[in-house]
Amino acid sequence: MTSLLLDMSLKIVHEHFFLSIFLHPPTANLLLKNKVWYTDLRMIHLKSVSKQYTADSIGLADVDLTIDAGEFVSIVGQSGTGKTTLIKLLIAEEKPTSGTIEIGGWDISRIRQADIPLLRRQIGVIFQDFKLLSKKTVQENVAFALQVAGEPYKRIRDIVPRVVEIVGLKHKMDRYPHQLSGGEQQRVVIARSLVHRPKIIVADEPTGNLDSINTQEIMEILKKINEFGTTIVLVTHNRDIVNQLRKRVVVLQDGKIISDEKHGKYHLSATAQ
Ligand SMILES: Nc1ncnc2c1ncn2[C@@H]1O[C@H](COP(=O)(O)OP(=O)(O)OP(=O)(O)O)[C@@H](O)[C@H]1O
Ligand SMILES: [Mg+2]
Repeated sequence: MTSLLLDMSLKIVHEHFFLSIFLHPPTANLLLKNKVWYTDLRMIHLKSVSKQYTADSIGLADVDLTIDAGEFVSIVGQSGTGKTTLIKLLIAEEKPTSGTIEIGGWDISRIRQADIPLLRRQIGVIFQDFKLLSKKTVQENVAFALQVAGEPYKRIRDIVPRVVEIVGLKHKMDRYPHQLSGGEQQRVVIARSLVHRPKIIVADEPTGNLDSINTQEIMEILKKINEFGTTIVLVTHNRDIVNQLRKRVVVLQDGKIISDEKHGKYHLSATAQ
C-alpha cells in the first residue's frame, strides 16, 4: 500500500518540477535542450587523497576518484575501510591530510569554515541514523533546514510541501517522528536533504536500519532523484541493492580503491567478506 502510494505520488509529480527542484540551472537547460542526460561534467574529483586520523589510524590512502554529474555510484567495502571517511571528506566534515578534492570544480581541500555552509547547500546528506528533531513535525523538520539557512518564509512555504510530496509523505506532514515508521522517517530525511536543490546526494548506509520493503522504497526514491540529474554517492553493505542497481561500484579496502566497475556487482575480495 505504501509502495503504491509512493509510486503514485512520484508519478504525479511532473518531470519539469523535478528538473526545477533538483538541477542547478545550467545543467537543467542543457538537459532540456538536448534531451539527453548530461554526464560528462566532472562533479566530484579526488586526486591522491589521503586522510590520516592519527599516527596509527588511516582513513583513506592515496585515493583517486572522479564521479561525473548524474552518476549513481555505490561505495562498498568491509567495515573500517574508509567509506564514511570518504563521505565526510566530500561534505568537509573532515579535511584531507594530503591531496585535493574538487566538488563541481571547487577545490574544497582547504575550505574555510565560513564557506562550509555554501558547500553543504550543494550536497544533500543522508545518514543511517535519521537525526530528525523529535519535537518537530515532518514539515517542521524539513522547514528547519531552510530556516537555519536564512531562507525567507515564503520560499519555505513553497518548497516544503513539494519535497515532502516527492517522498510520498504529504498526508503525514503533521506527524512527529515517533509517529512514523523507520522507512518514513528516512524519507523525511531525504526530503530534508533536497530542500536546497543539491547537485549531489551522499548517503551513508541510508537503509542500514530498515527492513527490505522500506529499503526498496528508499532506493526507488534515490533512483528517481538520480534519473532527474542529481549525482548520488551511496555507501552500502547491502548486496541486493548494489546488484539490482547495475550501476558503478567502487570497492574500498584498507583506505584504497581496489575495484571500480561501471556496471558492478557486490563482491568483495575473499579476505574482505
Ligand atoms: N575520528 C577518527 N579518529 C581516528 N580514526 C578514525 C576516525 N574515524 C575513522 N577512523 C578510522 O579510519 C578507518 C576508516 O573508518 P571509516 O569510518 O571510514 O570506515 P567505514 O568503511 O565507514 O566502516 P563501516 O562500514 O564500519 O562504517 C577505520 O580504521 C577507523 O577506525
Ligand atoms: Mg561507515
